[in-house]
Amino acid sequence: MKELSKYLISVNATFVNGEIVPEIPYEEIMRLVNEPKIVIVKSGIPEHLLKNVIESTWSWSQRVPASEVPDTFDNNQHKRRLHIARIQQAPQLFHDHTFDAIKDLEGSFKETLLTVFDPLRTFWNNLTGNKEEYGIRKGQPYFHPQVTHYPLGGSFFGRHWHPLNPQKVGTILALNKYGRDYHSGGTGYIINDTVIETEGFQDVGDIILFRYDLPHWVSPSSFADRFNWNDPAGRWVAILPFYDPWGQPAEHDEPQGWKQHINASNELNTVAV
Ligand SMILES: [Fe+2]
Repeated sequence: MKELSKYLISVNATFVNGEIVPEIPYEEIMRLVNEPKIVIVKSGIPEHLLKNVIESTWSWSQRVPASEVPDTFDNNQHKRRLHIARIQQAPQLFHDHTFDAIKDLEGSFKETLLTVFDPLRTFWNNLTGNKEEYGIRKGQPYFHPQVTHYPLGGSFFGRHWHPLNPQKVGTILALNKYGRDYHSGGTGYIINDTVIETEGFQDVGDIILFRYDLPHWVSPSSFADRFNWNDPAGRWVAILPFYDPWGQPAEHDEPQGWKQHINASNELNTVAV
């Protein structure tokens, strides 16, 4: 474990039989996340598995037409996101691939995705004390495996936040390498009025863990590059959100309400223990 800055901690892990095994206990990681700090876990997932996810996702997106209708949260789809989120008013420009029905994908593509999403799922289960499987469950929270491509030349995701529960801890796995595959863009956070930019700190295979109700964003890829939806160049990440898409959305009140919110949920956690 290493303190990279006041709010940024690096934790080593080994990848053993498809499982991410951190150097410190899961409870200790969650204690750091809830402080809150941003925790970067060096997952040890071999880079060729991550590269396979990018290449197979790109090739799938070339075979399957991009969705242009409202999300149904019960399929496998990809979409060019270019809008301002309705409730939080967060602007966004990126290409996401959502595999809510991951179990229904064709054999080899499914296996390739699972080599990375299964370790991520088990890791999140271990952190949060859950034993969740994939599958669509209307009216309940469930996994929304997602591969996100931030193309060169101006992709980004504006400041936004999420309800703390049931996700508790957000997971962002870097599928490719800063400084080699892309040169700008990364996730930023606000903790106690301090801006924490992780751009350049997240290497390929690193998982960023963050308390899910922290305000966060994705800083833009450089405008010096030419933007092109049809070019796979850029930053690629895998995330594993767990929520009920028909449930309560995040509140509009932020950032003023956030400190009260974090205090209130800390009190609730204390009561629950
Ligand atoms: Fe987010």
